[in-house]
Amino acid sequence: MTEAIFKTENLKIAYGKNQVIHGIDWDIIEGEVTALIGPSGCGKSTFLKTLNLLVRSMSDDVKLSGSITFSGKNILNDKIDAIDLRKQIGMVFQQPNPFPKSIFENVAYGPRIHGVKKKRELQEIVEQTLIEAYLWDEVKDRLEDSALGLSGGQQQRLCIARALATKPDVLLMDEPTSALDPISTLGIEELIRKLEGQYSVILVTHQMEQAARVSDTTAFLYMGELIETNKTSQLFSNPTEKQTEDYITGKFG
Ligand SMILES: Nc1ncnc2c1ncn2[C@@H]1O[C@H](COP(=O)(O)OP(=O)(O)O)[C@@H](O)[C@H]1O
Ligand SMILES: [Mg+2]
Repeated sequence: MTEAIFKTENLKIAYGKNQVIHGIDWDIIEGEVTALIGPSGCGKSTFLKTLNLLVRSMSDDVKLSGSITFSGKNILNDKIDAIDLRKQIGMVFQQPNPFPKSIFENVAYGPRIHGVKKKRELQEIVEQTLIEAYLWDEVKDRLEDSALGLSGGQQQRLCIARALATKPDVLLMDEPTSALDPISTLGIEELIRKLEGQYSVILVTHQMEQAARVSDTTAFLYMGELIETNKTSQLFSNPTEKQTEDYITGKFG
């Protein structure tokens, strides 16, 4: 049977008095690519960065209630080391944000802070991870060059490699192609498809075509409510909820 990588129960998220997520119950299936769609401002990024508790580091007035079970623990209550959690849950953002360091150092960064010291071992991890992110052939002769010299698409694949280098279980992606050209976008989408099965990928996108192309399950979020989650093919061809249908047919957005 399918297992949940995350199980949220009555998850509510507010910034001060502004409640943004209104009580979400959702089992996100392990090993799948799950797309989260919905109009701008509906709470997609907020939801995503709550899954690795980044939202707490980024805003002082955030209030979280309900529960999120991950690896058998409620990450909202139990004593959780956020650094440890983020080793298991990698994240990639809208704008590629490599460190202003060499390509090698970008990928070696995570393993290093988690205790890998031997140069040989780091080299091995960097090579394997860059192969996994389909970037190795393009950069293997210039690992010591600055990551900032890469193209946007390459930078984003490097950021994915940086996230994968600590061997996480989950990869969170917040509109990872919105700053990229169409060719680089296809490259990232292909990469996401290849990660399916080995990782649980949760992909926020406001492009429905992207959700349809790369995900197994799609969830439609609207004004902080989870309106529908369904097999992607089902959600786009025969949605259960009227609001989903109105959204995917472009009646609002
Ligand atoms: N750090 C923050 N502090 C206060 N309000 C925020 C913060 N981040 C987002 N919001 C508000 O939360 C709501 C949801 O935003 P967001 O999660 O970014 O939506 P989406 O990613 O779907 O566009 C918006 O009303 C936004 O203004
Ligand atoms: Mg967002």
